[in-house]
Amino acid sequence: MGFPIIRMRRLRQNENFRRMVRETSLSVDNLIYPLFVTFGKGVKDEINAMPGTARFSIDMLSREVKEIRNLGVPAVILFGIPEEKDDVGSAAYNPDGIVQRAVKEIKSAAPDLIVITDVCIDEYTTHGHCGVVRGNEVLNDPTLELLSKMALTHARSGADMVAPSDMMDGRVAAIRKTLDEKGFSDIPIMAYSAKYASAFYGPFREACDSSPKFGDRKSYQMDPGNSDEAIREVALDIEEGADIIMVKPAMAYLDIVRRVKDEFKIPVAAYNVSGEYSMVKAAAEKGWIDEEKIMMEILTNIKRAGADMILTYFAKEAAKILNK
Ligand code: PBG
Repeated sequence: MGFPIIRMRRLRQNENFRRMVRETSLSVDNLIYPLFVTFGKGVKDEINAMPGTARFSIDMLSREVKEIRNLGVPAVILFGIPEEKDDVGSAAYNPDGIVQRAVKEIKSAAPDLIVITDVCIDEYTTHGHCGVVRGNEVLNDPTLELLSKMALTHARSGADMVAPSDMMDGRVAAIRKTLDEKGFSDIPIMAYSAKYASAFYGPFREACDSSPKFGDRKSYQMDPGNSDEAIREVALDIEEGADIIMVKPAMAYLDIVRRVKDEFKIPVAAYNVSGEYSMVKAAAEKGWIDEEKIMMEILTNIKRAGADMILTYFAKEAAKILNK
C-alpha cells in the first residue's frame, strides 16, 4: 500500500501533531556540564576558542554551580588545571589538589548536584600524555596505579562518580578494585570506553594546556576508522565494572553511539566535545548559522542516536531553552 492512501505529511501538518509523534525529546535530565577549574583567586578566565565557557578558580565556583543546579542540569564533570605540572602528574592525585578542593567546594555550595571527576593525568604532566612516559613510550601498567590513586582522592573529596578518560588498558578494573577496597563500592564509574584519537579535542587542549609535547595519542586512543573495536572496548569496560560507558567525540561518531546502544543494555553517554562546540560558535559568530536551532538539533540527534546522557558545553544554554 502506498500513495495516495498513505500520505506521510498528514502527521506533520502542525506542531501538535508533530509533538504527538516525535520519537525523541531532549530533556535537561540528559545533560552534563563540563567545568574547568584552575588555581588562583577571583579567576574567571574565558576560554578563547570556546566562547561562553571559562576556567574558574575555586572561590568562583559556588555561583556558577548554583546557576547550573538552578537550571536543572543534574551533573557537572570537572577538569583541573594545576599550578604546577611534573612528569608523573603528581598534582593529579594530591589529596589537596585542584579538583579535590573543587569537589568539596561544589558539594558544599550545591550538595545535590552530581559531581563527576575526569580521571586522567594529561592536564597534570609536563609532557602532556595520559600515562607515565619512558623515552617516547606511554606505559600502560605503571599508569594504572596513578589513575587508581587519583580516583581515590576524588572519592575521598566527595565526588559522586569518577570518569577515567586515559584509555589505558585495564584501568576500569584497577580503579574499581581500589575504590572497593577503600570503602567506596557505591561510587560508580563512567568509562570513556570508545574514545577516539580525534582532532576535535583541539580547543580543550588549549583550555587545559594539555597537548602532548611530543608525538600524539594514537598509541592509546582509538583510530577513527574503527567501529568493531569500539564494541570490544565497551565490552571490556563493562566486564571490568563500568556503570556507564561513553563514546567520544559524539557528532562524527553517532554510528558508534547507535551500535553500542543496540549491543549493550547499559547507560550510554556521548561527549559533544570542544571542537564540535567551537565549530558551531564560530559559524554562528559569522552569522552563517542559527546557533540556537543548530544546538538543539545536534543535542536531540545525539540522543536519537542512542545516548542517554550528553556531556556538552551547551548544557546551560540548552537547559534555558528546555526550561521555557
Ligand atoms: C583527557 C581528556 C580530553 C578531553 C576530555 N578528557 C582531551 C584529550 O584526550 O586530549 C577532551 C574534551 C573535549 O575536547 O571537549 N583528560
